[in-house]
Amino acid sequence: MQLVKAKDYQELCRMAAERIIGKVKRARNIKLGLATGGTPTGVYRELIEDHRKNGTSYRHVTTFNLDEYVGLSPEHPSSYHYYMNKNLFEHIDIPKEKTYLPNGMSADLEAECRRYETLIEAEGGIDIQILGIGLNGHIGFNEPGTPFDSLTHVVQLAETTREANSRYFGSPDEVPTHAVTMGIGTIMKSREILLLVNGRNKADILRRLFEEKVTEQLPASVLKTHPHVTIIADEEACSRL
Ligand code: GLP
Repeated sequence: MQLVKAKDYQELCRMAAERIIGKVKRARNIKLGLATGGTPTGVYRELIEDHRKNGTSYRHVTTFNLDEYVGLSPEHPSSYHYYMNKNLFEHIDIPKEKTYLPNGMSADLEAECRRYETLIEAEGGIDIQILGIGLNGHIGFNEPGTPFDSLTHVVQLAETTREANSRYFGSPDEVPTHAVTMGIGTIMKSREILLLVNGRNKADILRRLFEEKVTEQLPASVLKTHPHVTIIADEEACSRL
């Protein structure tokens, strides 16, 4: 894992966006793995800004998101589909049919997990996967204890995760109890991974990530075994290193 320190959140976003834009410009048919949550919103703002100013085109880009809540439709304002549409897709020239997220509304969620996994394979895998990190070290929605070889699956969300994400909902009770997420094995198949960590509240988990051994109790620790991981973290997140 290579650590790149950014002064603040803005610089972190610029650095991450530059890497993504570089790839989008260089390679035809690039496959981007995308994340939601608070961390990547500023990165998406940078991508939109660059698209407007410099005309970087996403017509040849395919995206796969990490996860989606079970039971929320794409029109639900707290769904990750909605988040992606509002924070990125509506503002760039990516063809809608090339933006994939798991369908949390599927009547057969097990089949949906298999379909999503097969789809990623069929597209040739993910070139660069953007990740945030949960306070308990989760990546995507892979909570502590998730097997490292897991593929796309349905998860029960940890209460702490539901609480942390309740800011996107009217009340904590409205946060779904389950989600569909790429597995840790799915994430690890990406050719390159960019982990973004910002803010003082992530300082402890970033310290743990560097200090603790590779264990399924700390899902992000698996990244130490991947050959091409860059962590971009701001000064606040690095304050306990
Ligand atoms: C959520 C998402 C993750 C995200 C994490 C951190 O639960 N499923 O993909 O990385 O929590 O979110 P944030 O960036 O808002 O801190």
